[in-house]
Formats: sequence, C-alpha cells, structure tokens
Amino acid sequence: MDGPREAGSSVEVDDLSLSRLLNKPKLNIERQRSFDERSLSELSINVRALEGYDSIYSPGGYRSGFDTPSTARNSFEPHPMVAEAWDSLRRSLVHFRGQPVGTIAANDHGSEEILNYDQVVFVRDFVPSALAFLMNGEPEIVKNFLLKTLHLQGWEKKIDRFTLGEGVMPASFKVLHDPARKTDTLIADFGESAIGRVAPVDSGFWWIILLRAYTKSTGDLSLAETHECQKGMRLILALCLSEGFDTFPTLLCADGCSMIDRRMGIYGYPIEIQALFFMALRCALPMLKHDAEGKEFVERIVKRLHALSYHMRGYFWLDFQQLNDIYRYKTEEYSHTAVNKFNVIPDSIPDWVFDFMPTRGGYFIGNVSPARMDFRWFALGNFVAILSSLSTPEQSMAIMDLIEERWEELVGEMPLKITYPAIENHEWRIVTGCDPKNTRWSYHNGGSWPVLLWLLTAACIKTGRPQIARRAIELVENRLLKDGWPEYYDGKLGRYIGKQARKFQTWSIAGYLVAKMMLEDPSHLGMVSLEEDKAMKPLIKRSNSWTC
Ligand code: GLC
Repeated sequence: MDGPREAGSSVEVDDLSLSRLLNKPKLNIERQRSFDERSLSELSINVRALEGYDSIYSPGGYRSGFDTPSTARNSFEPHPMVAEAWDSLRRSLVHFRGQPVGTIAANDHGSEEILNYDQVVFVRDFVPSALAFLMNGEPEIVKNFLLKTLHLQGWEKKIDRFTLGEGVMPASFKVLHDPARKTDTLIADFGESAIGRVAPVDSGFWWIILLRAYTKSTGDLSLAETHECQKGMRLILALCLSEGFDTFPTLLCADGCSMIDRRMGIYGYPIEIQALFFMALRCALPMLKHDAEGKEFVERIVKRLHALSYHMRGYFWLDFQQLNDIYRYKTEEYSHTAVNKFNVIPDSIPDWVFDFMPTRGGYFIGNVSPARMDFRWFALGNFVAILSSLSTPEQSMAIMDLIEERWEELVGEMPLKITYPAIENHEWRIVTGCDPKNTRWSYHNGGSWPVLLWLLTAACIKTGRPQIARRAIELVENRLLKDGWPEYYDGKLGRYIGKQARKFQTWSIAGYLVAKMMLEDPSHLGMVSLEEDKAMKPLIKRSNSWTC
C-alpha cells in the first residue's frame, strides 16, 4: 500500500470502519471475551493451559470495552500533511539484506554518507512507526523488526569487563552497508556506547508491547508462539522480575534509562518505567505459553501486577486531596501503622505544585522513594498508565481533567511537555550535572515533544475525550510540517524549535500519523490499550479523592 487510507465524510468513515470491522477475520470474538477483559483472578496462579489460546486475540477491529463517542467520528478531511508525513516516513526506512527492518531516528540531512552508514534505528523510536505501519495494513516491517531485535538480544553484551543481563534489548542498532563487498552488518548498542553508558530499561518493555500490538492487529499468533519469541519474552521478564533487596514492587532504575536518556533526576522508581513495566507485564501474560517454563513466569507476573498496581495507585497518585494530606503529614513514624510510610518531609514539597494542582484532576508523580517524592509531571508515564489501565478509570479521567485544566502549562503552543516544570539554576546544576542540552524548558527538561501526540490521542480516545486530541492535533498541524518535523520544541509554551532539535525526526512524523489514524478509526486503539482489570481495585484508602 502506498499511503494512508483517508475518508471524505463522517458517513463514509463510519461505513468504512464498520465494514473493515466486519471484514476482519474473526477469532471467536463473539463467544470469547478478549484477553483484555479477562481478570487477573481468572488467570490466577492455577492458570490452566489457556483454553482456546487463539481466542485471546481479536484482530485490529476489536472495539468493545470503551464507548467511542460519536464525536470521535466527525469529518476527517485528508490533511495535506498526512501525505507528506507518509512520504517522509517511507524515506526513513532502513533495510537489512533487502528487507525493511526499522526506521532511522532522524533523516535530517540528505547526505549520502549518513544515509548509508549511520542508519541508527532506536527501538523506542520505532514504536510509533510500527504502529503507523500496522494501522496501514503493513505488518511485515514490524515482524522483521521484532525478529531482528530478538536476534540482537542474543548477543553477548559487555561494558568494560562486565557482562550485562541476557535479556537486555538494545537501545538502538544500525546497519552497515558495504557496497564493495555487498554485505550488510548489524551493530547494536545496549548502553555500552550510549552517553552515560546506561542500558535502556524501556526497550524490552516496548518490544513486548509491540509484539502484542502486532499480534492483535494481524491476528497472526504464530510469531508470538515461536520458541524464539517465547524465550525473548522470558529473558526480558527474568530481568525485571528478579528478586533482590527491594521492599517495593516497583523497578529500581538508573538515571537516563528511558526516553529521557540523560541525567534528569529520574533515577529510583521513575513513573515512565513503572508504567511501561506494568503494561509489558500485562501484554506478556496472555502471550506466554503455559508450558513448564512459561507457567512459572505467569505466576510471577500475576503476583507482581497485583502488588504494582496497589503501590502505584496508592503512593504515586497525587490530587488536591492527597497533596493536602501530604502537606499535613507527620514524620518519623515507625511500624506498620505509619501513614507517611516513606517519611516524606512536607517541607520538601516544591512551591510550584501547590499552584499547579487544580481542584479537579490529578496525576501520577514522577518518582517515590524513601523521603523523596518527585512531584514533576511526566507525560509518557501518565499516558501509558491510562492505556495499560494501571490507573483506575477515575484516575484516568482525572489525568485528562488535569490536561484540560493545565493546558497552557502542559500543552501550550506545541503538544506536549515531556515533563513539567523545568528545573532551573542551582537545582539544574545539581540534578542534571550542568547539562547544556537540558537547560530549562528545553529537550528533556520541560521541552515539548510532538511524538507524545500519539500517546495523548490514544489516552483521549480511551477516556472518551477525542476533542482534546483534536485540539492538540490542530496545534501540530499549524507548525510541524512548516518547521520540518523537529524532534522537540523549547520554551514555556513550546513555541520555539528546539535549540539542538534534529529535523525530520521520524517519531515526530509517525506520532502524527498514528494520532490521525486513531482518531479516524478508534478501533485501532485496541493495539495499544488494555482494559481495566477488575481484580486490581485499589485497596488502600489513604486518599480517596479520585473516587469522588
Ligand atoms: C534522544 C532521545 C531518545 C531517543 C533518541 C533518538 O536521545 O532522548 O529518547 O530515542 O534521541 O531519537
């Protein structure tokens, strides 16, 4: 296929989506609930071999579980940017031995040398590209990518004399073309050549999430069922489910181990990783075979999901009521009756958060560890929390309320702030180590990243607020193409093209396409969304304001 499918009017769109739904191969979806709807208790520790394994997947057209408001299907005039975006996305394709295996991170300068020799494909950057191709009915490249990265996972990974865990997935890989010898070679980076030498914790999680998206979209179970994919999943899971000294179910991380890949004070238990961790566990659960090896993981996943959702929904959640409670915390409380479990000193609450917190709305804060709460807003973590149903339906609504209430701060003139607010002056010096790229309101430090548009749009559709996504898309359409698809924007309002932003940044392009296609056909949401699991209701009553 050459380009996106566009429909001219709402009637056509409705008809189109409906007929598409009807035409999709059906795998017992009438009789069997989707695996999204199965509760963990059903999958509980005594899990039997999944009856009708094939029934857990409903291909792309799956639509139940959320009500797509009719307003989501207004007229979708093909915007001229869409065709341009597809052209650019296709130009970013990277081939290995004749097959497309990914998309280059940025296609900034058309220099031959760069195009031929430096074709870096980042795992996380490829996700929106992959979704765009899946939504457009082109799954082959996604399959190639999944297999290629799986192969790379098998490499021995060393930093100096230390060998990294077997399951680590690369942050990126590149293809070296040797025109003389007519050979292609792969080179992968697992953190050993990345700035700061941090391994990407998010790569493995994105890989699992993408494998599910591929399976869900194509109905092709055979890939996930292969021995290689099963092993790949188990290796990733073994890394993040391993036992250690932890007293929390959250995953302890080094700074810079995710999309924010430089020191930004996100070490500890960053929301970005916890949300992806949760989502990857939920995606892996129905894909794992219940053979001798898989079964053990299923049991561990189920336990971890329970603990993780309890912890996150209770301790990471912040709204007006919760903030007020923390503000009045007593400190130095011992024993299990403690309310202020992590001994957070109220004086450590930054001033900005009191003004920022609306009476309506809430969000998962950036990090929680002993005596430390990072109150910053992180977009990716909050949207992934919505998509994975880590947040309760009420919390999801509250997150969307916050976006509306704090539109100027979080969206401004260009969606979307990666984190809010920026850190400045002394704090910037201490936290970033004087990073000149991460100065206030730039790059990872309060910069605005158009790629986040697809996550915002998916969250909007899931929560029944497509109008928010439409408003954001309009902002993007005013500038992104004209500005040459920058990687990020700077400034409090996101008005300026980023200081060192690359142009023709692939995930800015793909993120836009995914957002457009999802709004056009909200059934695509099923690829990246999981329904609420009834077995994971919050049990603690520390702050109940989200249930009001
Ligand atoms: C920057 C971003 C990172 C991204 C990479 C490639 O390092 O921080 O998230 O994967 O660029 O675009």
